[in-house]
Amino acid sequence: MIVTTKQLFDHAYGKYAVGGYNINNAEQIMGLFEGCIESKAPFIIQISRGARGYTDKRMLEGMIRSADEIFPDAIFAVHLDHGTEEAAMDCINSGFYSSVMIDASHESFDENIAITKRVVDAAHAKGISVEAELGQLGGVEEDIVVSEESANLTVPSEAKEFIERSGCDSLACAFGTSHGAYKFTTSQGLHFEVIEEITKLVPGFPIVMHGSSSVPQDEVERINAAGGKLGGAKGVAEEDISKAAPMGVTKVNIDTDGRLVWCRVHREMFRDQPEVFDLRPAGKVFMSEYAKYIVHKNEVLGSAGQVDDLRKTL
Ligand code: G3H
Ligand code: 13P
Ligand code: ZN
Repeated sequence: MIVTTKQLFDHAYGKYAVGGYNINNAEQIMGLFEGCIESKAPFIIQISRGARGYTDKRMLEGMIRSADEIFPDAIFAVHLDHGTEEAAMDCINSGFYSSVMIDASHESFDENIAITKRVVDAAHAKGISVEAELGQLGGVEEDIVVSEESANLTVPSEAKEFIERSGCDSLACAFGTSHGAYKFTTSQGLHFEVIEEITKLVPGFPIVMHGSSSVPQDEVERINAAGGKLGGAKGVAEEDISKAAPMGVTKVNIDTDGRLVWCRVHREMFRDQPEVFDLRPAGKVFMSEYAKYIVHKNEVLGSAGQVDDLRKTL
């Protein structure tokens, strides 16, 4: 069942975080739904602009509609990840999305507010909620590359002003994470003091953590043992994620970890079964391994086991 992102956040805030999982194809959608059904977890399925252009946005949307039919017990929201104003407006007008992200974090403070407010006005008129971003994460984000040194942590007082002036419903804040498989080359861990300060200033307001993949080291080792070259890949400690969730970090975005599962499954298959040329054996293993990853991650987020209680509030 597709619900509003607000319904998910209202239930989760201060107790657990909802996983915001990026998907690009049918295998990822199947693994995600299977994992969330098994762990009885609500979730947010998110589509980046890159994902919308990979096959065709209608293909992805169609597959999500089908997954909703195949898994009638699933409770989830559909979200645009890192949208431009144009992409956000397209999603708002499509009538399919529960929420959109407008990412104008690379603009000046005032321009970020102005762009976000335009999206908020259009979205709220249709009952859709809006995630905005303030501060800059390190790493690669769509076509923008930000080095770790030039990543700017969110200033809590600015976050409060930004939320009040833009009217956004959740805010992606920079407190030490970065996108991709190489986080923390020069520094280590999350800035919990930033999270604490923000939630003190805007109690009850959902904070979003981007760049939350944990980059499991066993996964990296298996990839490298099968011919990969991911030396030095490192992610967010799972204890840090579990600690941040009850502090008001209500949505936790994960993309890279799913790519690592895909990479490991396919590299090992090509190494160990060079005679196989059918795409389905590896696809089957990937769906099941990704589902296992999702089950584990929902435990870390605290979203596992929440669906029945959430259902009573809908
Ligand atoms: O934050 C970015 C997400 O990982 C999406 O990545 O734009 O390559 O689909 P993508
Ligand atoms: P990761 O690269 O850590 O998976 O972050 C994904 C993300 O923030 C999507 O918006
Ligand atoms: Zn992101």
